[in-house]
Amino acid sequence: MDLELDGNAALCTAATSGLGLASAEALAADGANVAVCGRTPEHVDEARNRLEAVGDGDVLAVEADITDPDQIEALVEETVDSFGGLDHVVTSAGGPAPGPFMETTEREWYSAYDLLVMSVVWTTRAAYPHLRDSDAGTIVNITSRSVREAIDDLVLSNAVRRAVIGLMKTQANEFAPEVRVNAVLPGAHETPRIEELVEAAVERGEYDSYEEGIKSWADAPLQRVGRPEELGDVVAFLSSPRSSYVTGTALPVDGGAMQS
Ligand SMILES: NC(=O)c1ccc[n+]([C@@H]2O[C@H](COP(=O)([O-])OP(=O)(O)OC[C@H]3O[C@@H](n4cnc5c(N)ncnc54)[C@H](OP(=O)(O)O)[C@@H]3O)[C@@H](O)[C@H]2O)c1
Repeated sequence: MDLELDGNAALCTAATSGLGLASAEALAADGANVAVCGRTPEHVDEARNRLEAVGDGDVLAVEADITDPDQIEALVEETVDSFGGLDHVVTSAGGPAPGPFMETTEREWYSAYDLLVMSVVWTTRAAYPHLRDSDAGTIVNITSRSVREAIDDLVLSNAVRRAVIGLMKTQANEFAPEVRVNAVLPGAHETPRIEELVEAAVERGEYDSYEEGIKSWADAPLQRVGRPEELGDVVAFLSSPRSSYVTGTALPVDGGAMQS
């Protein structure tokens, strides 16, 4: 299916790895010009190389920290200057600190709020005037299935991420009809973050092998974890005119894991 993204301009935040990068790759593969950011210079360079390899569009890969509003504003402006406008925003993030409620510090709550919520506020506030001027403006927030079903030992994800869904629904109302706003709720996907978690569990002796460890994350009717590109394809679809009657939706991409 042609997603009709050829020549459009997209910005994917926190997207030098994992689900954000997979989304950027899906947009680039359909001909979009794509900007991504992350904090680690080597990952920024790797992401640029990967994105240049998948599409014919222009690529902008820069170092920027999404917990710093000034850096986000500069990133949006650099993207607009480079591509001559902005049509699509995809927000991702790192993961908040894990742990049970009583072991979570007050500072971790504020850090999680900046990382998961304020980063989306700052990005969409800076991007909205440009998206409104586009005839194809979209925002897709990558969150987690934890916004619907609490996950053990992830109180910050379970509690703080829900604010992004309230924000998404509000923006879908306020930004319509010019800009559509949706969220995806990923279940387990085999990104570098998950690979690291499984490898650490193998080292701690919780599993005999990586294969056994990754299988333990595959608690879904489809009986496997997702590939990042499977999430990226859904993000590209929600960013494209092919989903032109979809806004205000929070779409699980989880192999059927969610039972609510
Ligand atoms: N993978 C899953 O199964 C899964 C499931 C549900 C939800 N999620 C959530 O989806 C999001 C992405 O997960 P992932 O698995 O794709 O993680 P990942 O592979 O670790 O990628 C995270 C990306 O975000 C960037 N990043 C992190 N903090 C940043 C910051 N402050 N400023 C700018 N960039 C930042 C990282 O680059 P630098 O570190 O170099 O900055 C990296 O490019 C996370 O919030 C995660 O909790 C993941």
